[in-house]
Amino acid sequence: MPTDAHVMLREFNAWLSVDFHAPPDLMAAAQDAIDGCKGWPMHTEQERRRRLIALINGKLKLNKDPMRSLLDGAARSRIFPNYHDKTEILECLDFGDERRFHHWLAQSGYENSLALQFIPTTASESLERFHQLLRTGRVNRTDARSCDLSERQTEIFRSLFGSFIFYAFPAEAMHRHFNHDCNAIYRDNYYQHLLAFHAQALHRDSALVFLRVTQEMIDGLTKIDLRDALCTFICDTYDRLANHCVLAVQLPPFRDGKEDGQWRLFSDIVLYAEKHREVHLKTGYFRPREIERATSEHIPSLDTSKARFDLANEGYFFRDCFILLTSGDITCRCDNQPGDILLLFDKHARDETLIPCPACRSRNVAGNSYPALGIRGWECRNPICPDRSAFDRGNRYSLSALIKQEAIRSEADQIPEWSLRRWKLDLISDIDDNAVPDMLIRHYSLHGDTVIFVNGTCRTQEMHGRRIVHEIFDPTKAVKGMHEKFQSSALFDRFVIDRMPVANSVAALVPHRSQDALVYHGDCFEVLSRLPDASIDGAVTSPPYYNARSYTTWSNIYCYLYDMYNSARAVYRTLKPGSYYIFNIFDYFDNENGIVFSAMGKKRMILGAYIINLFRRIGFGLEGNVAWYKGKVEGKRNYNQGNRSPYYQAPLNCWEHCLIFRKPGGTSCAYQFPVFLDAKPVYKIVRGENVLGHTAPFPNAIPELLISRMHTGMCVLDPFSGSMTTGRTVHQHGVASISIEILKEYCELGIRLLEKETQASLQKDLFA
Ligand SMILES: C[S@@+](CC[C@H](N)C(=O)[O-])C[C@H]1O[C@@H](n2cnc3c(N)ncnc32)[C@H](O)[C@@H]1O
Repeated sequence: MPTDAHVMLREFNAWLSVDFHAPPDLMAAAQDAIDGCKGWPMHTEQERRRRLIALINGKLKLNKDPMRSLLDGAARSRIFPNYHDKTEILECLDFGDERRFHHWLAQSGYENSLALQFIPTTASESLERFHQLLRTGRVNRTDARSCDLSERQTEIFRSLFGSFIFYAFPAEAMHRHFNHDCNAIYRDNYYQHLLAFHAQALHRDSALVFLRVTQEMIDGLTKIDLRDALCTFICDTYDRLANHCVLAVQLPPFRDGKEDGQWRLFSDIVLYAEKHREVHLKTGYFRPREIERATSEHIPSLDTSKARFDLANEGYFFRDCFILLTSGDITCRCDNQPGDILLLFDKHARDETLIPCPACRSRNVAGNSYPALGIRGWECRNPICPDRSAFDRGNRYSLSALIKQEAIRSEADQIPEWSLRRWKLDLISDIDDNAVPDMLIRHYSLHGDTVIFVNGTCRTQEMHGRRIVHEIFDPTKAVKGMHEKFQSSALFDRFVIDRMPVANSVAALVPHRSQDALVYHGDCFEVLSRLPDASIDGAVTSPPYYNARSYTTWSNIYCYLYDMYNSARAVYRTLKPGSYYIFNIFDYFDNENGIVFSAMGKKRMILGAYIINLFRRIGFGLEGNVAWYKGKVEGKRNYNQGNRSPYYQAPLNCWEHCLIFRKPGGTSCAYQFPVFLDAKPVYKIVRGENVLGHTAPFPNAIPELLISRMHTGMCVLDPFSGSMTTGRTVHQHGVASISIEILKEYCELGIRLLEKETQASLQKDLFA
């Protein structure tokens, strides 16, 4: 048996018919690993050869096509292998091990017909393709940086040779060598190893916290005390909740004077939860000076000493807001009863605990990456790790992903199909008291966890293998003034800033035939500043959803919120007292660019919560939130990739906010709005082409919410009018309109559509 790295290198070169001169650092690491395995039997020559071919297959992804056809075949039989199944299938293919595949098929209970699809690449094919790659260096892999051919060849050789050494011995021998903890107790299973040596990072003592805000809490406390108590609870829970776990808060509908208390509280809770921790972030990705510069450029009157860009606002990550209906189907709801809302937040607190590499167990890892904010990513630096990529990049992993992946294996954690189907959308009907705790436990905790129910309705101590600790919400713990302190913190000084209109600017009216549908081309803040006070009877709009579309974009969320705040101030001034402003917005996914600029900052946005906060600061009352139900929307968000275990599930977001604001005063009666609006989104793409000319029109049904409650002779404003859906809809109802749009082509598009529709309706009347 060769026990010398040089002999192993000769073997490697001979078997692959190559001439790799391994550099000294690699040779030293190889020799060290071989010496570290002294006393352990090396695999036989035949086995070493077999493993080398499997390594080539795995690293160069040579079984990609066979794997794809196998998965396609499985999908046709409605079989969706999970993460571990896929890993196993791929290993069977890479080792060309049909027996192992049959064994796995029998164990997994999948159809035997899948065996017919098992067509791995052969050893000679593997070698041929390997040599082809060495000749051309041509690859189509994302982890391959561009480099010249000889460098590429060296990367491939290094990666293969290091892994070849690892694979020459039993994994246990290598694990013991690379991680001395393994000599104290050896756990074959990596996760068991983590539990044995990194228990604190994995503790599951408060692995889910679920707070039900009850009617008694709402009735028994002043609203200020309620807010303080909830902020205190959210803050304390952050320390107590296990990392990468979920806080859930259920809120019933209630009125707070003339306002909608539930949606106001939604805004306060969501903002506080996401932003309540002010931290001096020391990480390299946080570049406060750049954020300050970009914001100052956009907001000339920004007071940087108050805005404190040196502080990062952190907290939970808003995940979802479910609307829960007790009965019926939204499409036939006539009782107009609002439902509870269920807010879900993730805790991802940066944790620097060093987690050894799952493949080689080495502690020689670098922690310089974050796949998402708060989630620590590690990269293995061991040159002898078997999971190095073809181009010699270290294995990358995170604790959060490892926890999720472990649960896939656990039979007790599998979520029944009916539950996955029931919670497929974020608007759900037929919800009773048990449905929410049942879903939370199944979808957002693991078997064996301890979970905390605060004000829970069920009294059971155990559910689906989780221990439940029941607590009663204690308002006496509230820190007085906590909410107010947050509301006046530096965060808001970054965007709650009054803008001054440009002196002597003119509002540019776009001429066209219809006198009662005024169209202005320009920035709505500037145009509105030219219009008289209290002159408009109502407003409805859908603004740009931050950077969702290319027509207008902002450097960061502060610049966006400043513009939203100021356009809303301008609308407020021009509205008559007592008028309504309906604001359609969606909590979609993007990077706020307030902490980090790269993709790791992408997350669910909290636009609805921000808007409610800003509008209330201006003076608007929040009368309600009409949930625009878009029907069975398409999307990939609920695609769990065959993983039916906790933390892989997310609903499709099927509703958007239509926030109902009202300017106080006036003598007019309050309008009654529905709780839901069931309207299909505008289908603008036909055979890949946008037939409408605007990328984000809303359906007529949204402006109709307001217009149907107004009288002829009134005037409606849309400050972000796009293709003029509002202007065109009100026209049909005999109501005048003011449309403001920053892009000339959209002004022209709106006018063209208006004229076409007016013409069509004239002709219809003529022939009626
Ligand atoms: C979501 S779209 C509105 C779509 C519209 N509801 C419709 O049905 O066509 C938002 C529009 O606001 C416009 N916009 C962005 N910033 C603006 C500003 N400062 N003033 C006026 N319009 C603006 C964009 O060009 C875009 O057309």
